[in-house]
Amino acid sequence: MSEKKIEKVGVLGAGLMGSGIVHVCAQAGYQVVAREVEERYWKKAFDRIGGFMQKSVEKEKMTAADRDAAISRMSGTTDLADLAGCDIVIEAVVEDIEVKNEMFGELDELCPPHTIFASNTSSLTIVEMAAATSRPDRVVGLHFFNPVPIMKLVEVVKAVTTSQATFERVWAFAESLGKIPIAAKDNSGFVVNLLLVPYLLGAVRALESGLATTEDIDKGMVHGCAHPMGPLTLLDFVGIDTTYRIAEIMFDEYKRPEYAAPPLLRKMHLAGYHGRKSGKGFYDYSGTEPKPSDLNI
Ligand code: 3HC
Repeated sequence: MSEKKIEKVGVLGAGLMGSGIVHVCAQAGYQVVAREVEERYWKKAFDRIGGFMQKSVEKEKMTAADRDAAISRMSGTTDLADLAGCDIVIEAVVEDIEVKNEMFGELDELCPPHTIFASNTSSLTIVEMAAATSRPDRVVGLHFFNPVPIMKLVEVVKAVTTSQATFERVWAFAESLGKIPIAAKDNSGFVVNLLLVPYLLGAVRALESGLATTEDIDKGMVHGCAHPMGPLTLLDFVGIDTTYRIAEIMFDEYKRPEYAAPPLLRKMHLAGYHGRKSGKGFYDYSGTEPKPSDLNI
């Protein structure tokens, strides 16, 4: 089967991660088509990307001509059929295997055999998606980190079914985006979330047990370990809903207490305190500066 050069990239979902993936692919010279359920979602994402690129132009990190060229390579759609001509499709939709498999199932019918299906999942295993397609050798994990345009790492994940040729093409693709790839086994959480999730959940347990205040837990890790953000700020940044879902999936996989979501995380998820994107999480973002939320602990 021909190993066609990757020229056109499809991205499923234009949320926090999907829009970052669209951004880096367009900036690296790829044609990108982003698919969202409603037009307003991809339009909002494209506005955000345009805003970040504009800031780069103002700081002379990018020329106006390069910005215009990158923007002209991006298109949005609500129709999965518009991704039929893509050489790789990267999904960045909700952490729900049924949603992911439904989309890959439809695309399996629409895309030519050479198209690679990549998943940006944080916690699901790639084999679950691979097994639901007729091209399990061309399904791979490609896990980016938030904010995608800034974070250098990408985990490239080979499922038991993924061919070496697919793995190598996706690895080279990640490098072409200016990323640093690492190879990870197809185990829930791969490398980073396997280590990061227990740390984040531990910070929630510390707050819940009254060990220290929100601000002091964060200050502890910023000033004691030189982390760019404390764990509770990072939870708000990644999203309480996303982290809760990841913890559920990882606990289901490993049945180990360090992956069990603390009750406080569940309560915040139920209350809609999803972090920065909802305006409230461990911090309240309604003022000029974030303030620790009163969570009635
Ligand atoms: N898109 C594009 N550019 C962005 C951006 C975004 N979403 N967010 C920030 N930037 C740019 C800013 O414009 C700025 O650019 P400049 O250097 O040209 O001025 C630069 O990034 C730095 O941003 P700021 O000055 O606003 O802020 P900081 O210096 O405080 O850095 C940070 C922000 C990069 C987010 C830093 O705090 C950080 O590294 N935090 C930790 C992030 C982290 O751990 N991410 C991993 C999360 S886990 C994950 O994603 C896995 C998932 O599966 C859960």
